[in-house]
Amino acid sequence: MNLAARTVLVAVVVVGAFAVWATAGASRRPEVTIAAYVPPEPSHSGEGKGKAIGLSGCLAAACHGGPAEKALGGTLDSTTWQGAGSVWVAADPHSAAYSLLTDHPHRAVKVTAGHIMARYAGGRPATEDARCLACHTNPALAEPGPTTDPHVLNKRREGVSCEACHGNASGWVREHTNWRGNRAEAYAATGMVPLYDLGERAVNCLGCHVGAPAAGGLPVRDMNHDMIAAGHPRLNFDFAEYLRRLPPHWQEKDRTSSESVPPARSLNPAKAWLVGRTAHAEAACKLLASRAERSASDPRTPWPEFAEYNCASCHHNLRAASDEEPDAQWRKDAAHLHGRRLGAPQWQTVWPLTPAAALAAPTRAGSPLKDLLEKIEVPLPSRSVGSVAIESATRLAVERKRLVGFADADAVRASRKWLDTANLTVPEWDSGSQLLFGMAALERSRSAKPETLTAQFRTAFAAFVPPRVPLTDEAARRHDERDRWNTFHATVGTIRNVQNNRP
Ligand code: HEC
Ligand code: HEC
Ligand code: HEC
Ligand code: HEC
Repeated sequence: MNLAARTVLVAVVVVGAFAVWATAGASRRPEVTIAAYVPPEPSHSGEGKGKAIGLSGCLAAACHGGPAEKALGGTLDSTTWQGAGSVWVAADPHSAAYSLLTDHPHRAVKVTAGHIMARYAGGRPATEDARCLACHTNPALAEPGPTTDPHVLNKRREGVSCEACHGNASGWVREHTNWRGNRAEAYAATGMVPLYDLGERAVNCLGCHVGAPAAGGLPVRDMNHDMIAAGHPRLNFDFAEYLRRLPPHWQEKDRTSSESVPPARSLNPAKAWLVGRTAHAEAACKLLASRAERSASDPRTPWPEFAEYNCASCHHNLRAASDEEPDAQWRKDAAHLHGRRLGAPQWQTVWPLTPAAALAAPTRAGSPLKDLLEKIEVPLPSRSVGSVAIESATRLAVERKRLVGFADADAVRASRKWLDTANLTVPEWDSGSQLLFGMAALERSRSAKPETLTAQFRTAFAAFVPPRVPLTDEAARRHDERDRWNTFHATVGTIRNVQNNRP
């Protein structure tokens, strides 16, 4: 590490100490190695993929390694870009992503990579398995798996860094400092990912937070039931909520404007929710099609893939109804099966695009994914479901682009239409969380705030969290969960009443 680079690193770590990012990210110490930076030759392949240059190409003090204090304190303005990289180093959860694959994770974990690998791929280190690297570093660096090339190893250690989201930079690192006007063509020609487009942004996040087929030089990203059963956390993603939780290192701008300096714009959270849900379903469809295809020849791709389904379809208690739990057998009710056969698991948790067990609408017949659901929500789905999934993904992509064009007021109206119909009927936490994320996005999209529901939202979110010390006594555990559900249910009801009765 040269002196100048070390100074940058020290500077951003110090700034990090002042960070007041409310969530857990603030205490994470990222593991980054900053090597001397040699700018690559420009490439105009048009393929849009380019080569990874690594963090050092972005973090120079004169580029994006400037002070981050203002942004970390919540002030985003026309100078935020200067400290964008420093914000990432100091506070972004992605900076710790690679370390999770090592024996020295930079945050507390429930399950270590070593433990997961012992059960998933006997004896192989996670740092050498492209299946793990694909999401825990720049996916473009995950292939070919094991390597001794120090340049590749160093860049992998940077975790989910700049190029994992913005695209490999060799094609745009020189150009991007001085392009003017509408960027769409320049981005496409040089391989910079158009993250200013809300839909493309969601697709990019979902590539790792749901998964994606191998495409455009990137390896497959697939979190399956084998990995989850080996101890990997299941992936719970809601675009609007996760985007909000990232410490922003940017000011939202309309980069499609023809003005030479793109004007600032606001991002409507309800619109992010709608676009995110649609892109989520699209990502799930593409992954399903790729699983169907790969499973025919790849022994590490099972079929059918259990992670396609709502976990609670198979993992639930078998207790009979009692005074304490009158609705213990709700899974057998026609109202919650939404037309599925008894025993057929429910596909995904992409409400309101597909039914959710505890919410009345949409029904299976009313879902935009009706054709797919009929083929996948059966005891042993045929691999031919892949072609239906591709058709669905294509339709969803069109819908996503349409939603991105919505005026904020229309997006709010469209979100409300779904949220108004949603009534929580039975204790099903997955349905509950999807509803809550939507309601929270709607709340944040309000500009007039005479009556805010902050306290209620806090209570509802807190209800998800089980006791810190797990209850070993089964009766006490059940009682606690019941209590938390009752609190959750009542609070969601209150929030809905207020939201539904607002003009
Ligand atoms: C499809 C993307 C994806 C793949 C593939 C993937 N991970 Fe992860 N991993 C994630 C995400 C996202 C999280 C964070 C989950 C969250 O907080 O939402 C995570 C979290 C973790 C954690 C933290 C666990 C904890 O208790 O907090 C470990 C350890 C881990 N992954 C190891 C692995 C290993 C080992 C593999 C390969 C077998 C792997 N991951 C494959 C996306 C992925
Ligand atoms: C998890 C994804 C992600 C990662 C990782 C990431 N960014 Fe970003 N970045 C975004 C998004 C989303 C935007 C907003 C896009 C836009 O407005 O065009 C953005 C915007 C920016 C901007 C524009 C700032 C402005 O105010 O105009 C800069 C500069 C930037 N990122 C630099 C970096 C650097 C440097 C790194 C690595 C140290 C990095 N980003 C890592 C997602 C990411
Ligand atoms: C290349 C893969 C990749 C991409 C692309 C990606 N993420 Fe992540 N993300 C991860 C991994 C791996 C983790 C786990 C890191 C950890 O928990 O320490 C993570 C963690 C997070 C977390 C913290 C979750 C928690 O439980 O605390 C948030 C929030 C998040 N990502 C949001 C986003 C958003 C928003 C985008 C798109 C702008 C995005 N991510 C793009 C891989 C990715
Ligand atoms: C189609 C039914 C089905 C679905 C859907 C399903 N699982 Fe499983 N799961 C099983 C079975 C069966 C086992 C036991 C497998 C074994 O032991 O080999 C299991 C095992 C597990 C284990 C390991 C438990 C242990 O003690 O070793 C975990 C964790 C798990 N599943 C989590 C999930 C999550 C999270 C989801 C949703 C993303 C899910 N499962 C969806 C059927 C399912």
